[in-house]
Amino acid sequence: MAAVAVWPLQSYLELGVLPTAVPCARGHARLVLAEWGLQELADPAELVVSELVTNGIRASRGLVGSRFGGRWSPGMPPVRLWLLSDYRTVLLQVWDGNNRMPTRQELDPESEGGRGLWLVEALSEDWGAFQPEHASGKVVWAAVVKP
Ligand SMILES: Nc1ncnc2c1ncn2[C@@H]1O[C@H](COP(=O)(O)OP(=O)(O)O)[C@@H](O)[C@H]1O
Ligand SMILES: [Mg+2]
Repeated sequence: MAAVAVWPLQSYLELGVLPTAVPCARGHARLVLAEWGLQELADPAELVVSELVTNGIRASRGLVGSRFGGRWSPGMPPVRLWLLSDYRTVLLQVWDGNNRMPTRQELDPESEGGRGLWLVEALSEDWGAFQPEHASGKVVWAAVVKP
């Protein structure tokens, strides 16, 4: 991901596909943003991280191998989380090894699920997904901006 180089503040975390992954990711995001002096973005960033990592964990189930950085690795891949910032915008990126792209669902009042990406949309300035070069899976990203 060539664009990573332009962000002065960067953090990277690999999360195993475990029940603790989502609370770990949330706590990590909160701590990193505090370290960067961006506490005011901690609440929305933590919620977005929670939704994207939850989706990434679910999408990883059943995967038996992955490619990342041109290298193939056997076994269930981790979920990878990047936090990038220029002190104003926080770009959250979550990679998982599933090639299927996320699709926002129609809002259905009868259904409990299908709201995560709506929440991401509401809390972020923009979001999207792309298939990185030299890797299987995809990155889902969202930009959270200071008011
Ligand atoms: N990382 C992902 N990989 C593959 N599919 C995804 C991913 N994230 C979301 N999706 C798809 O988009 C749908 C909507 O996601 P979301 O709004 O978070 O709702 P929910 O997680 O409750 O189903 C999911 O049901 C899934 O089909
Ligand atoms: Mg979800």
